[in-house]
Amino acid sequence: MELKEAETPLPVRTAIFPVAGLGTRFLPATKATPKELLPVLDRPLIQFAIDEARMAGIERMIFVSHPAKSAIERYVTHDADLDAQLCAKGKTELARGLAADALDPGEIDVRFVMQDQPLGLGHAVLCAADDVLPGPVAVILPDDLILGETGCLSEMIAAYGRGGAGHMVATMQVDAEAVKSYGILSVTGRDERVLWADGMVEKPEPSDAPSRQAVVGRYILDGSIFEDLRDQKPGTGGEIQLTDAISRATPRVGLSGFRFSGQRYDCGSKEGMLRAILAYANSMSDFRDVIDDHNRSLLAAE
Ligand code: G1P
Repeated sequence: MELKEAETPLPVRTAIFPVAGLGTRFLPATKATPKELLPVLDRPLIQFAIDEARMAGIERMIFVSHPAKSAIERYVTHDADLDAQLCAKGKTELARGLAADALDPGEIDVRFVMQDQPLGLGHAVLCAADDVLPGPVAVILPDDLILGETGCLSEMIAAYGRGGAGHMVATMQVDAEAVKSYGILSVTGRDERVLWADGMVEKPEPSDAPSRQAVVGRYILDGSIFEDLRDQKPGTGGEIQLTDAISRATPRVGLSGFRFSGQRYDCGSKEGMLRAILAYANSMSDFRDVIDDHNRSLLAAE
């Protein structure tokens, strides 16, 4: 495929985190704790998403949350009382770690907007429309944890705008049966880690899927997405689908897929969460020993 001379794209300054979902798949754990605060060993899921956005140079983070999930706001904000208590007890190292994780208003502009009704991912993104900075915006779904050397969003920003595509989604190849759980790209060509597409379909049946390239929860979207979402009709599941708005805009805005280098874990499922915890623990020497020990004792018991 002939590549258009890429214009230097505007910087990606805003990240939107849709976190209003009720997390029913993790009940009863999520009855009183938002699923984004469930720990991957010792770090809440949302912290990984925040760190990824911060590493990518994001200036404004917009959390699209739900009134019942105020614990998220408490979590991301620096807690001066807790800090003072820890320091008084000589736990300065711990206090320093918490301060580093929390979002410092001098560094990142943090906003919370509410999505009262579960009207879909497209609707969640639209809820952030009045708060975004000019230029393209990133969307990060914290359920999709991507572990790797370089943050997925940083990789995408480095590749964004190639071939003139204004919308970019992170993609990975999935099994034929799995296509019905994802947005699926209609691929027209590829160039190293970038795929070119002429549209995408939300959760198709395997027989109707245009490819097996599934969208995972990282997007860089042209600022025009909000106009497109405003008049987007409900799609799959009766919800306003982000996939549909992206696809409709493709002839005008362009669409690419990005094959990231990290390993993705579907932390919206118990299996994926368990795998993420094991992988994360395995990356730290203290816990690797625990896993090895556990595996050895299982083998010995056979
Ligand atoms: C959402 C998107 C879907 C995407 C998926 C990635 O679906 O609608 O296109 O492939 O996230 O995790 P959900 O998993 O919220 O149903």
